[in-house]
Amino acid sequence: MWTPPNPDGRWPNDHTLYTSVSGGGKSQALLQNPKIPKRGARVILWDHAPDHPGDHFRTKKGFLVALRKGIERNLKTGAGFRVAFSGPRTVDNYEWWCEAVWRSLDGRYRTYALAEELSAVSISTAKATPMAAILLNEMRKYGGVFHGTTQRPQEIPKTYFEQCEHKYVGQQKTLKQLKKMAEEIGVTVDQLRALDKLQFYVDDGSAKAPELITIKAKSPKGVRWSD
Ligand SMILES: Nc1ncnc2c1ncn2[C@@H]1O[C@H](COP(=O)(O)OP(=O)(O)OP(=O)(O)O)[C@@H](O)[C@H]1O
Ligand SMILES: [Mg+2]
Repeated sequence: MWTPPNPDGRWPNDHTLYTSVSGGGKSQALLQNPKIPKRGARVILWDHAPDHPGDHFRTKKGFLVALRKGIERNLKTGAGFRVAFSGPRTVDNYEWWCEAVWRSLDGRYRTYALAEELSAVSISTAKATPMAAILLNEMRKYGGVFHGTTQRPQEIPKTYFEQCEHKYVGQQKTLKQLKKMAEEIGVTVDQLRALDKLQFYVDDGSAKAPELITIKAKSPKGVRWSD
């Protein structure tokens, strides 16, 4: 299999998973995550609502052309890019998008892959689909950072939980989800039950207790449709 250039094992695992009920604030938490630079970053999105700034494409061709241009310009001038695929949300298309992300990686640079609503493209709670698994398991050493959201943590592959060291856990829908997510990050079910929308416990994967944060909603600025 093709592998990206310039592997560098020193990159930290910054992969991040966001879970909450619909309207709980996942997309806002991702939009406002201070760890993703607002400018100058290489950002590739799977974003259908859309919830995030960037150039959005419904066709694969439009997306790939813009991505290639963004990478070429980034290599020449250091300018960032934000290119989103917003075509049909099928598992096959998600696998194709994951491969496009994989082929964009270069271990000299940070590349952010942001994916909205993973349950829509998950077929099993066991292993992630092949290209998604390659991203999650291997992109770190090529500078890749994965951020994914889901309303339904019980429907997505365990690979996401294992590989995303950072977790934002907001309001949950069922007792089963409350128990699962409380256990994932080491808080109590009652702590999670007390959350309002736009509130999250943020676990950074360390032994520290998760931090409670409250986000103020903002409209995403710079959402563009290109085809
Ligand atoms: N553009 C906006 N302006 C003001 N408030 C907003 C805006 N977008 C979202 N909100 C508020 O923020 C809350 C969280 O919205 P967000 O889109 O982050 O939810 P979500 O968890 O991603 O939901 P879903 O799973 O349906 O995508 C909403 O309930 C709404 O009150
Ligand atoms: Mg959302």
